[in-house]
Amino acid sequence: MLDDAINKARGKSVTVHAPGTVANMVCGFDVLGLALNDPYDIMTIQLIEEPTVVIHNVDSYGLPVEPQKNVAGVALLEMIERLHRKTGFDITIEKRIKPGSGVGSSAASSAGAVVAANHLLGNIFNNNELVQMAMFGEKLASGVKHADNITPCIMGGVTLIRSIMPLDIISVPSPPLYVTVVHPQIEVRTEDARQILKKQILLKDAIRQWGNIAGLVAGLIKSDYELIGRSLEDVLIEPVRSILIPAFAEVKAKSLEAGALGGGISGSGPSIFMLSKDEATALAVENAMKDVYAATGIAYHTYVTTVNTQGVKIVK
Ligand code: HSE
Repeated sequence: MLDDAINKARGKSVTVHAPGTVANMVCGFDVLGLALNDPYDIMTIQLIEEPTVVIHNVDSYGLPVEPQKNVAGVALLEMIERLHRKTGFDITIEKRIKPGSGVGSSAASSAGAVVAANHLLGNIFNNNELVQMAMFGEKLASGVKHADNITPCIMGGVTLIRSIMPLDIISVPSPPLYVTVVHPQIEVRTEDARQILKKQILLKDAIRQWGNIAGLVAGLIKSDYELIGRSLEDVLIEPVRSILIPAFAEVKAKSLEAGALGGGISGSGPSIFMLSKDEATALAVENAMKDVYAATGIAYHTYVTTVNTQGVKIVK
């Protein structure tokens, strides 16, 4: 059956859009994430005879083309390992999600690559297997396996990763949400942003945090925007990481004043995201973010988008 799938795939190509993602969703460090409709990476894949990965980058980020050093490369090498066949992949990657931005750039590469390859092979792997393979990319990018960007990237929507070993993924239904993001043009490496975290936490802080995680998940399921808003609080990670992000407190305060439900650091930063109930509020939040950043003199990009409910999209 696998040999048939490989024979059928020869000479064909698959192109995908792999979406950016917001990991953690403020309180859910390493366990919650949501997919965005914008930005996304574009990737095209085809089979080759040799069991290796050939990478072509068609963007200006200068990412490595050696498969062992590239997040899409290591995820595909893991797939080749699992295929046990004399076959490999040729992949062309156009990154539109800037590496080190905090909106899941590495996850888009590794998740997009495995979903595209899987589609080419007639979807022989299930979502859990795809997440496991894509996590090799996250391990390369940040030193640890985490699935809170990869899972929403593959499946769309909001996802809860209750455990990565064994993998236990839950899709969390969500009401319509607008997402406003400000991306200061500085790079924060996830690996560095993880190293500065405290290794131990106080029980009273843990209680507050798991109350918020439970509140956020319940708020999403019940479409209770007020509950979502008050659960978007992080007493563990944000106090440490926010020092890496210029004007973080001011962006947050002005966004809340503009009507945002809440928000915080996107993934490991430096991007900051805010959730809003409607587009007008999301645009007002964008203006508030622009006002704050214009005064800092730091270059920045902002965008307003919505939750991507589909995940990696096959476009051809
Ligand atoms: N949960 C990860 C972290 C996401 O915050 O380090 C990185 O995008």
